[in-house]
Amino acid sequence: MRLGILLAAVLGAVFFMEGAFAQRIELPQGPNRDLVYARCRVCHDLQYVVDSIGITGDNWKALIEDMGRYGLRIPNEEREKIVTYLVTYLGPDASKRKAGPVQTAEAAVDGKAVYARQCTSCHQAEGTGLPKTFPPLAGNPDLYIDRLFPVFVVLNGLEGPATIKGERYQGAMPPFDHLSNAEIAAVVNYIRSAWGNDKLRPADFTEVNAVTVTEARARPMKPKEVLAYRAGKR
Ligand code: HEC
Ligand code: HEC
Repeated sequence: MRLGILLAAVLGAVFFMEGAFAQRIELPQGPNRDLVYARCRVCHDLQYVVDSIGITGDNWKALIEDMGRYGLRIPNEEREKIVTYLVTYLGPDASKRKAGPVQTAEAAVDGKAVYARQCTSCHQAEGTGLPKTFPPLAGNPDLYIDRLFPVFVVLNGLEGPATIKGERYQGAMPPFDHLSNAEIAAVVNYIRSAWGNDKLRPADFTEVNAVTVTEARARPMKPKEVLAYRAGKR
């Protein structure tokens, strides 16, 4: 995707994304969906669009303005049609719909693979952590403090003296906000179910998705504030 943007900039080649690999992500059926396909896959694939599902109409409008700064040139009536489509099908109400592109995008991301790449160096492959240095994630009820806490940790990091499964930790975890919303959702769902953690699930458990991460990104926190958030919930 980044490479795609770079190539578009270097070659001025606006149509190359129309090839096979631009087809993967499907948006919900609705009027003018084809216009979104035609105009919004020129510089990047639709992952960015999927990652933004659930934002307000005003934010969609502002976003399309931003695309103008990057070089999107379309007539006003097309712009209005695109905004109407995005607000109607990918606005705040989209998070309430069951089927749709959120699932499609997440199916493409393997939480276990994200964990292996990003998290094992500290938390270890089996989620055991390292005594007194990196806390265990296996058998850790904190993962279920609430829906947002593990998402906040991955996005913002965590720092400060923390008692986790009876041990004191005085470390710092870096933020992983460079991961996509789909990757963050997938890794959080993975750590909450791997190593028998599914047995810790509360009755009202629901998996997180890209919309949850969009929601969490709207509340930026420092690593210490994530610790305070956790303390307030325990
Ligand atoms: C002329 C090139 C171009 C076109 C056409 C284009 N975009 Fe973008 N888009 C960009 C660039 C550049 C970025 C920023 C990439 C980055 O920050 O890494 C971006 C980022 C985004 C993001 C992520 C923004 C964020 O803050 O995370 C969304 C959502 C998005 N585009 C939606 C759209 C939609 C919807 C359309 C169709 C109306 C569109 N784009 C058309 C160039 C374009
Ligand atoms: C560089 C080492 C490091 C990496 C990499 C890392 N973490 Fe952490 N993680 C920590 C440390 C250290 C803490 C505890 C921080 C403290 O002492 O306050 C922590 C805490 C956590 C917690 C909170 C546990 C609790 O009981 O409050 C979660 C959840 C978590 N990490 C998930 C992840 C996930 C998912 C990844 C990969 C995306 C990851 N971590 C990558 C070092 C790391």
